[in-house]
Amino acid sequence: MIDQARQAAYELLAAVRSDDAYANIVWSGILTRHDLTGRDAAFATDLAYGTLRWQGFYDAVATECSSRPWQDVDDALANVIRLGIHQLLSMRVPDHAAVDSSCELARSLGYDDQGRIGFVNGVLRAVGRRSAEEWQAAVMESRSGDAAIAAVTSHPEWIVSAIREALDVHYGARLTDGQVREALLANNTPTRPALAVRRGHRDAVPDVSPGRWSPSAALVESGMPGQIPAVREGWAIVQDEGSQLVVQALLAVPVAPPESAWLDMCAGPGGKAALLADAALEARVSFTAVELHEHRAELVRQLIGADSPAEVMPADATTRPWGSRFFDRILVDAPCTGLGALRRRPEARWRRQSSDVAGLASLQRRLLDVGLSSLRSGGVLAYVTCSPNIAETIDVVEEVLLHRDDVEVLDAREYLPQVPQLGPGPHVQLWPHIHGTDGMHLALLRRL
Ligand SMILES: C[S@@+](CC[C@H](N)C(=O)[O-])C[C@H]1O[C@@H](n2cnc3c(N)ncnc32)[C@H](O)[C@@H]1O
Repeated sequence: MIDQARQAAYELLAAVRSDDAYANIVWSGILTRHDLTGRDAAFATDLAYGTLRWQGFYDAVATECSSRPWQDVDDALANVIRLGIHQLLSMRVPDHAAVDSSCELARSLGYDDQGRIGFVNGVLRAVGRRSAEEWQAAVMESRSGDAAIAAVTSHPEWIVSAIREALDVHYGARLTDGQVREALLANNTPTRPALAVRRGHRDAVPDVSPGRWSPSAALVESGMPGQIPAVREGWAIVQDEGSQLVVQALLAVPVAPPESAWLDMCAGPGGKAALLADAALEARVSFTAVELHEHRAELVRQLIGADSPAEVMPADATTRPWGSRFFDRILVDAPCTGLGALRRRPEARWRRQSSDVAGLASLQRRLLDVGLSSLRSGGVLAYVTCSPNIAETIDVVEEVLLHRDDVEVLDAREYLPQVPQLGPGPHVQLWPHIHGTDGMHLALLRRL
């Protein structure tokens, strides 16, 4: 009998690959179905998420060990072998257990011929003859340039180029291949989930340690943060510290009083909108949250809280659904490739394509332009992406400002004085490998 943890991990890989499922959405259901809790759930999560993250490297290793072209191996058998490689190279599973359980898993999937079971056995035994470090060196040696970095860090090559370009802005002429590798490897390290504690509720969130940068942050030891009572009650939100910081920066910019209205143009699922709604209530200003998709707008309503006076509009923000109203503070947290949040979304790097960037950048420019036109004079707008990709960050702001002479770019670093190494400015770039946050980008713009 194959154990439930390996079966569950296999199911996640199959769901992600064949059904285009999102790992973080289907995983808790798979764990429940297999009755996995505690250490067994932790083992299964490490196996499933780790294999998804490292898939590119494991495919490079399997290519070296496979007696037939690796790309011709069918999906199910390839997933069994990838799970086996993760146990051999990245978990403390004895070699014989990793190989035997993988053959057993293949049998449980209906592969009963000696040829294919022998193939699984043969590939994994060959992998087990070298350590992870030896395989890193071998894979690196058989490729060059960004192709080598892509294989050993387990990223598609276009993401390596995008991160290299963004780091180049950060480090300039001193940028080394080692720094590019370090930035990419940070995406393979599981994060400790962070919470944002809602105003006035610090005492309601016990058993957590403070965050690194944000006064509202609390770090959760392990497990499913969504099951923490304070999160279920709405006193805390599961939210990366980088997201908390960009909201704090927007709120820290001085705007000449009196202020009367704030706007979030891309609010769903609502983490940043909830923080802004709390602050708006305290500052006695109105708050409007716009979200294109009705089901995500509903999530915004739930997070903000039913008793909040905030207005939630399911609408396309590029059509300016708020009409002729003007705002003192606007957040444009634009849809993006999410290249800064790959730590938390193990499969995202394999799903996103470089061809997605042009369409996203065009939408980002429209959203930013509409937002700037809806700022009152002296008002401030935060343009935010959870991607450091230059085409979605610096280029978007520059292109929109090309045809506007009514906007001043602020030095966003001044509004996060507690955080070091924010880049050469004027925008802020956070990095997983430097700040331990998502790779958020923040530009602060004032309407003249
Ligand atoms: C990066 S997410 C925002 C995350 C959110 N600020 C938070 O903290 O939870 C971008 C959101 O913009 C929404 N969106 C995309 N196009 C939009 C549009 N034209 N108008 C309004 N919202 C849009 C997406 O559905 C998505 O929910």
